[in-house]
Amino acid sequence: MKGYRSWLLSIMATLTLVGTAKATEDCSLEAGKEAFSACQTCHSVESNGTHLVGPNLRGVIGRGAGEAEGFYYSPAFEELSFEWTPERLNSFLEKPMSEVPGTFMAFGGIQNAQTRQDLICYLEQLQ
Ligand code: HEC
Repeated sequence: MKGYRSWLLSIMATLTLVGTAKATEDCSLEAGKEAFSACQTCHSVESNGTHLVGPNLRGVIGRGAGEAEGFYYSPAFEELSFEWTPERLNSFLEKPMSEVPGTFMAFGGIQNAQTRQDLICYLEQLQ
């Protein structure tokens, strides 16, 4: 019985390790940072919370949509009541203007799924 338990534990530990490695393998921070250059004209990630044409995006994952302090959102954004998760961000970034009709974010979207993934990784580590 003891042998079985430690066998089970080591299988579980291995699975956890594989899971962690996979999450980091699936995206490139470097590529994410580079992709963010398409956002930079409108979005700052400064830790002082500066807003540009769009709200500051540092810590956006886990923040309520339309809830950056001191930023004036569109009525469409004011109505949203969810928190940004990687999944939400993924669909928003694919087609911002059809995900949130009436948004002030005049941006066509990112078609490449890997680029979206890289960008999300970049934003995720800026907490
Ligand atoms: C032309 C300017 C512009 C560009 C380019 C742009 N955005 Fe935005 N973004 C905005 C504006 C303005 C808003 C606020 C939307 C509103 O009030 O309707 C916004 C909102 C957002 C939000 C919601 C934030 C919140 O506080 O709820 C996210 C996330 C976001 N943008 C990510 C991005 C990313 C990532 C890129 C680059 C791929 C990008 N944006 C490119 C202008 C822009």
